[in-house]
Amino acid sequence: MKINQLASANLQDKTVLIRVDFNVPMKNGHITENTRVIASLPTIKHVLAAGAKKIHLLAHLGRPKGVPNTKYTLAPVATELEAVLKEKVFLAGKFSDDSGETKIILHENIRFYPGEKKNDPALAQEVLEQTKAEIFINDGFGVSHRAHASVVGFSDKIPCFAGLLVQKEVEQLSPFLSNEKIAGLTIVVGGAKMETKVAVLKHFAKTSENICIGGALANTFLAAQGHDLGQSLYEEAEFETAREVMKIAEQHKTGIHLPVDVMCAETPDGASLDFPIEAITGTLRVFDIGAHTIQSFEEILLHSKTVIWNGPLGLYEQPAFSDGTKRIAQYLADKCNAQTILGGGDTIDALKKFDVSQHQYTHVSTGGGAMLAFLEGKELPGIKVLEI
Ligand code: 3PG
Repeated sequence: MKINQLASANLQDKTVLIRVDFNVPMKNGHITENTRVIASLPTIKHVLAAGAKKIHLLAHLGRPKGVPNTKYTLAPVATELEAVLKEKVFLAGKFSDDSGETKIILHENIRFYPGEKKNDPALAQEVLEQTKAEIFINDGFGVSHRAHASVVGFSDKIPCFAGLLVQKEVEQLSPFLSNEKIAGLTIVVGGAKMETKVAVLKHFAKTSENICIGGALANTFLAAQGHDLGQSLYEEAEFETAREVMKIAEQHKTGIHLPVDVMCAETPDGASLDFPIEAITGTLRVFDIGAHTIQSFEEILLHSKTVIWNGPLGLYEQPAFSDGTKRIAQYLADKCNAQTILGGGDTIDALKKFDVSQHQYTHVSTGGGAMLAFLEGKELPGIKVLEI
């Protein structure tokens, strides 16, 4: 796949429109994790340095359902961007440009407009008329799996380029698109929902050598094998899917590694104990992988050339159930020689909680759903429009 690279764009005196992914985690109106804001800086700085006249940024926050809602305002993001970019940022509503001398304009949440998710050409047209943008850059890798107006709607109207973040993500993730077995590749998957992981699991059940599964996702696999998991969270409706993944893995000689022991309690804030899988019963609930499982996962990681990890391995927000996620994060950062690719909002949030620097990994993707969609070999609409 060849995409139109930013290096080939003449940006001198141009008005440039950039789609970024500023969908950051928030608590009480404050940003709790700013990776996506930081990740937008190289492109914005590049465009400024290349002599652009104005930069208009389009972004979304949350899922406001096509109507303005102060809960989802990008105001805190504008403040954050100004702080990390060290340039003035003007937050604009209705694509108006009252920014005066300010070069960088962040437009209010694009999902306040019903036309965004419908990819309504009228919305894209309105944005272009108001901003007078001459060039479009998609730098929102995390939203590139969405065929929304601000992601794909400008492609037939003005020249489109890949931002530096999109280019980096595509370069880092593309080597894993092969349909052949990739020697030394291990996948670590956690999280809760089978629906979001199944396609990627089926893909890597063919092409990786090992898949280590944790989180509530592992519960579904274990329960599908007939284990009694007490009152643990699992998805009975996905048993067949879990069996299918295991069958594909068996056919392709891929090792599926499920927890052999787990940290259990009756409630997430209750007293926890490490139980072998066979010993779980009654009112017990699984909240993390156990010590033996951590060790066996580490052993697999030690012999891997590349590790791709998406999704926490337990209820990492609770100190009693954070060990699985924390120790694997630390192992990959400090002890493992493999190339390490991480992604997913919760995984990144966990790194921050455990104070593990993202710089210790080969690549930390800003994409959650987009990273998974890309890796499972799906065509991402926001990348497709950049192809040359
Ligand atoms: C994400 O956080 O994965 C992206 O910003 C996309 O958000 P969405 O799932 O609400 O479309």
